[in-house]
Amino acid sequence: MDHEPVGGPYARPDGPDPARLRRRLLDALRAGGQLTVPAVYAAMDAVPREAFMPPGTDPRDAYADRVIVLASDESGAALSTVSQPAIVALMLEQLDVRPGDRVLEIGTGSGYNTALLAELAGPTGRVTSIEVDADLVGGAAARLAELAPGGGAPLDLRRGDGWQGVPDGAPYDRVESTVGVDDVPPAWRTQLADGGLLVAPLWLCPGLELSVAFRRAGDLLTSESVTPCGFLQLRGPHGAEQRGHVVGLDLAAVGEALTLKDADVIADLLDTEAVDLGPAPHLTERRWWGFSLSDPRALLFVGRHGGNVAWGLFDSDGPTPAGTAGPGLALAYDGRLLSYGSPTAAYDLLTRLEAAPAVDPSRLEVTVYPSDHPVPPPPRGGATWRVTRTHHRYRVHWSPA
Ligand SMILES: C[S@@+](CC[C@H](N)C(=O)[O-])C[C@H]1O[C@@H](n2cnc3c(N)ncnc32)[C@H](O)[C@@H]1O
Repeated sequence: MDHEPVGGPYARPDGPDPARLRRRLLDALRAGGQLTVPAVYAAMDAVPREAFMPPGTDPRDAYADRVIVLASDESGAALSTVSQPAIVALMLEQLDVRPGDRVLEIGTGSGYNTALLAELAGPTGRVTSIEVDADLVGGAAARLAELAPGGGAPLDLRRGDGWQGVPDGAPYDRVESTVGVDDVPPAWRTQLADGGLLVAPLWLCPGLELSVAFRRAGDLLTSESVTPCGFLQLRGPHGAEQRGHVVGLDLAAVGEALTLKDADVIADLLDTEAVDLGPAPHLTERRWWGFSLSDPRALLFVGRHGGNVAWGLFDSDGPTPAGTAGPGLALAYDGRLLSYGSPTAAYDLLTRLEAAPAVDPSRLEVTVYPSDHPVPPPPRGGATWRVTRTHHRYRVHWSPA
């Protein structure tokens, strides 16, 4: 690709010149296959990411391929971030914005992705962006006004709960959420033009969150591309159900149907002596996804800073050697398979894992049905899972290559 001189409508005469760092990052993303569409490259080249960082951020951090925290709560947990450039690029490629498109973005955050969308939609397009946090949307508005997108689409920034979309701007040709959900809000589907694309991070089961590009056809959404991701979850009354609960010092368990009561039982089991069943079975991420999609008892243990530290299965009511029913927990930790309480949890974990397909997420097809819509029988071949949420049912189909 030929490069134009860096500058353009976003150039800041008073700041450090980050052009070289920016090009280096974009070229690395392109070499890694995460940035293949020339229009997305050009937009990311035109918008200075460093201008959307918290004050005092070193430009080298602004152009490292990593997420930057913008706002946190009292406990230090992130409330808003400027997403990692690689995932920003991948999602924009999935979204396939065309000049003239009417675009809705959920989760304005810093305004960086809003500026990229404005570049892509161009002067004949329009970008509406909604953010729940008044301070953040105020900051983004100020930044975007200062940078004054020359050739970009007109912007309409709103403060509010993005779960409701922005009805007075509908229909949209493209809807992009930069905040995660476990169920597509109905408004995102209904405010999308028929034939339009919705890209959103969708949490399907423990360990599996996907950025999915859905095409709308009538009442249905059908995936066109799928890529693993990790996102902050939608805040507010319609946010995802809480599926992660503290079970020990610096340790939380995440399970599809895990309740607070289950977490107490797990914490009690962890206080008992484990039976060491020997080396834990070798687990790949792909086999975990196949297992986790298949079994609501799948459990991931995450540390205080987010990394996965153990995995396993929790059965709230398995048979015990005494002939009574009781809870059981099987846990793969530090290369060992540990069993607590009812031993059938470990047996089930081993047999279910063995039977689980190793799922390549890029070969997953996700279809979204409104909850009152019938779900057709699964396609032949491969594996099909059904995920039921409040507003939609999801048919997840995987076929081997
Ligand atoms: C990963 S950040 C977005 C990054 C942003 N697109 C950028 O380029 O900086 C997710 C954002 O979604 C916002 N958010 C969370 N819940 C929301 C909701 N219910 N409605 C609108 N925005 C929400 C957060 O405050 C946060 O700023």
